[in-house]
Amino acid sequence: MNAIETKGLSKAFHSISAVQDLTLTVPEGSIYGFIGENGSGKSTTEKLICGLLVPSGGDIRLYGRHYTDAGVRARMGVLIENPGCFPNSTVYQNLMMQALNLDIKHPRAEVERVLKLVSMAGAAGRKFKQCSLGMKQRLGVAQSLLGRPRMLILDEPINGLDADGMRIVRETLIELNREDGVTILISSHILGELSKIATHYGIIRNGTLIKEMQANEMSEECRDFVFLKTANDGGALAVLRQKYHELEQKDGGIRIYNEAESSNVNSLMYANGIPVNEISFQKIGLEEYYLRVMSRNKEDK
Ligand SMILES: Nc1ncnc2c1ncn2[C@@H]1O[C@H](COP(=O)(O)OP(=O)(O)O)[C@@H](O)[C@H]1O
Ligand SMILES: [Mg+2]
Repeated sequence: MNAIETKGLSKAFHSISAVQDLTLTVPEGSIYGFIGENGSGKSTTEKLICGLLVPSGGDIRLYGRHYTDAGVRARMGVLIENPGCFPNSTVYQNLMMQALNLDIKHPRAEVERVLKLVSMAGAAGRKFKQCSLGMKQRLGVAQSLLGRPRMLILDEPINGLDADGMRIVRETLIELNREDGVTILISSHILGELSKIATHYGIIRNGTLIKEMQANEMSEECRDFVFLKTANDGGALAVLRQKYHELEQKDGGIRIYNEAESSNVNSLMYANGIPVNEISFQKIGLEEYYLRVMSRNKEDK
């Protein structure tokens, strides 16, 4: 079953079309990394899914039901843009107000539970306005976890976090996903961090989903290669072409795909009298893959 399905979703703000004909599928139990440049429509899409905006067209289904269904809405935790908090109230008070607002049964225990989850128990008495950006972000994540939602919609939750904060949020999300089966839609432009947790990806550009895939398909695209720099790249290429079929000149050297051993390439260069300046085994990361997909898409347009 899919936790979220949108079909032909669109949203226009007067003459600005923020989201158009967007079809997105988030399987139940997945961590769906939603990637796109600033202004590409991530927040708008998430607001539409959460019911914070009314679509101009198209359909949204949550667990097969219409998105306005109160039953599914009640099990959704949301953090979009800034957490709505009172500056002069403490972290604890802010969470408590929200817990009471959500009509949560044992609010005190629940607030303490979520504070622990984001490692903020020690900061419970701190006023919101005195929290660092990273603490505010973690508080926002804690808010979204109140009431044990079945699905989380998190808009750039790792923005503004230091390495430690990122690790805490990452570990919390992985635990919620693996142990409680919580489905998570998470947007971010910090691709390296997403790649540590995402099981699925959707890439959005100009309000349209241009690519959707599973993490294992992504890792196939994020390929291994041997990177070679020589004193004579022209000569090296001529030699390499006899043995390898997927070669690319990039970053002032040559990439040899489908070759797992740099020592084989090194021996080949040696046998042909081409001095090697640098040789290493590398991988196309999520970042580079993403840029490739984006530029391919630009060329298509
Ligand atoms: N309330 C609004 N009124 C007018 N335009 C908006 C509004 N919200 C977003 N937009 C526009 O819609 C586009 C998508 O924005 P957004 O969804 O915030 O992108 P992202 O979250 O990917 O950065 C942008 O061009 C933005 O300026
Ligand atoms: Mg945004």
